[in-house]
Amino acid sequence: MKAVPTTKLPDGEPVPILGQGTWFMGDDARKRKDEVAALKLGIDLGLTLIDTAEMYADGGAEEVVAEAIEGRRGEVFVVSKVLPSNASRAKTIAACERSLKRLNTEVIDLYLLHWRLGTPLEETLSAFAALVKDGKIRHWGVSNFDLGDMNDLWSLKDGKACATDQVLYNVTRRGIEFDLLPLCRKRKMPIMAYSPIEQGRMLKHPALVKIAGAHDATAAQVALAWLLRQKDVIVIPKTSSLDHMRENRAALDLKLTAGELAALDQAFPPPKAAEPLAML
Ligand SMILES: NC(=O)c1ccc[n+]([C@@H]2O[C@H](COP(=O)([O-])OP(=O)(O)OC[C@H]3O[C@@H](n4cnc5c(N)ncnc54)[C@H](OP(=O)(O)O)[C@@H]3O)[C@@H](O)[C@H]2O)c1
Repeated sequence: MKAVPTTKLPDGEPVPILGQGTWFMGDDARKRKDEVAALKLGIDLGLTLIDTAEMYADGGAEEVVAEAIEGRRGEVFVVSKVLPSNASRAKTIAACERSLKRLNTEVIDLYLLHWRLGTPLEETLSAFAALVKDGKIRHWGVSNFDLGDMNDLWSLKDGKACATDQVLYNVTRRGIEFDLLPLCRKRKMPIMAYSPIEQGRMLKHPALVKIAGAHDATAAQVALAWLLRQKDVIVIPKTSSLDHMRENRAALDLKLTAGELAALDQAFPPPKAAEPLAML
């Protein structure tokens, strides 16, 4: 099995372009065993970047992650997020301490502001800087920031250290291709694509089904392969199913032809003008 390809954070650190999401994990105790097993299999398969958040199951998803990474913390790149209601300096630091406890780890590899609300960015950045200095987080970034938000961030003295913007991006949600994605590329900051299969809603689309049929693949694999072909976008599908995990890993080996990419452009046209950032 070939290693999962990597892309680089702005400071040069490599991270896998295919990772794992955890939204809705930890919500239902009866599903916990399957969730932990799926995450463990994902790590075995090289999907070592795991994305979670204090918001998911009110911290429950972070506890599921803790169970999955127990004894193999060194293999995993853990991403978590602070809620905007905790974005003040003091509350961010306290939220991070709680996440570290639930994750049963000394350090979070990448800590994101989940979305922007009222708190001045300088406040949150000052908390991130303190957390980096204290060894509690290694990198920081943002999520659901549109172009204007990113420009505000980059205009700040310490804003340029931002490691990623995690945004909704999949073949049916292409708005960021007009401006945000090219600008992030220019700045050599990878974006992280969440809901890469639109939480399953796109899987019956005839364009995806047809291409899947030609490759003896699934629509989910086509959607993932469409994102992964870009090489510098970090893709974080969530699954609690071992079969889906294997399927998602195998999407890395699916190469779409120029004709298939053109057919997808026709079914899901790229943006012709700036669009407001889509969010889930
Ligand atoms: N920053 C943000 O605001 C934000 C927002 C949304 C999501 N996220 C992050 O991004 C991650 C991924 O996004 P998401 O969970 O919203 O949506 P997603 O990954 O697009 O879709 C997850 C859904 O698809 C199913 N699925 C996964 N692989 C499949 C396959 N091969 N075939 C068929 N169904 C499959 C899963 O069910 P099974 O478990 O049964 O496979 C689940 O119901 C989240 O878990 C979270 O970590 C971040």
